[in-house]
Amino acid sequence: MSESRVFVTRRIPEPGLALLREAGVRLEICQMIEEEGVTREQLLAGVRGCDVLLPLLTEPIDPEVLGANDRLLGVAQMAVGYNNIDVAAATELGIPVSNTPGVLTETTADCTWAMLLAVARRVPQAHNYMVEGRYKLWGPNLFLGGDVGIGASGRRKVLGIVGYGRIGQAVAKRSIGFDMDVLAFDPFNRQAIDADPLARWAELPELLAKSDFVTLHTPLTPDTHHLIGEAELRQMPKTAYLVNAARGPVVDEKALVVALREGWIAGAALDVYEDEPAMAPGLAELPNAVLLPHIASASYDTRGKMAEIAAHNALCHLRRERAPNVVNPEVYDTDAYRRRTAR
Ligand code: GLV
Repeated sequence: MSESRVFVTRRIPEPGLALLREAGVRLEICQMIEEEGVTREQLLAGVRGCDVLLPLLTEPIDPEVLGANDRLLGVAQMAVGYNNIDVAAATELGIPVSNTPGVLTETTADCTWAMLLAVARRVPQAHNYMVEGRYKLWGPNLFLGGDVGIGASGRRKVLGIVGYGRIGQAVAKRSIGFDMDVLAFDPFNRQAIDADPLARWAELPELLAKSDFVTLHTPLTPDTHHLIGEAELRQMPKTAYLVNAARGPVVDEKALVVALREGWIAGAALDVYEDEPAMAPGLAELPNAVLLPHIASASYDTRGKMAEIAAHNALCHLRRERAPNVVNPEVYDTDAYRRRTAR
């Protein structure tokens, strides 16, 4: 493998790099500075000079990038989501694309719950109040929030889960301890919902109207773009909370700012943004928004494992073997793939 070259766009966790080094590939890590991205020129030059590309969700892998090297053997993204990659173009060009599913399910579900609890109980705002030295005297009205569990009302709260794949199901499992009822909507996973005693299928309008908490876990596709917009936000109860752990454009962020400002809903917790890392004007100033920098899968163990899986996929692409996490498996039956790998 010593002549094989893997272009890693930004520094990934060590277990992934170690695997590639042990395999003896020539490794180019383009950007070592944590919060700096790669330029378009760096990306194109890197792709031209490599056999396999290992990108992150911050790089647009479009037809120009994919077409820049007719020897490129695969794209091994370190993320479960791959909406930054033009997979149709990759398939047409005969390039397998892989991702890192499964391993981040539990960590992402944990973070969804951290966001849900934080926004309902106003945890970040209360923390800021403390560190800013504003706590002078305990009071019975200090930082009142919404109950997640049964609380004093005695009413079971309703958790509405949109996107009932692996992550949505793991979020549902965690609701047991809070004695919640779960509604779920996911046209692609109807069977999983019907088979799960924890959840009941609801069409989106019913789910929105009946849920105290709505959490989002869909991939970003043309069908899910602005799935939650003004009309949907207006269907939610004024006391409800929205949590987005999916992709920013699933929510119309400008409409959400208005909804939060005008009190159509009680609060929102976001890990992702429409125009990431930018936020819609006004979002950062809202007292009822909890905002995270896309960290739902960010545990030491999980990010290390994601890097390892991406590296393993990259090695499979290099060896012209079927990668375990290929998202366009039909590519292996194309002439374009056969021509590319025969070179
Ligand atoms: C994170 O958002 C991922 O897709 O892995």
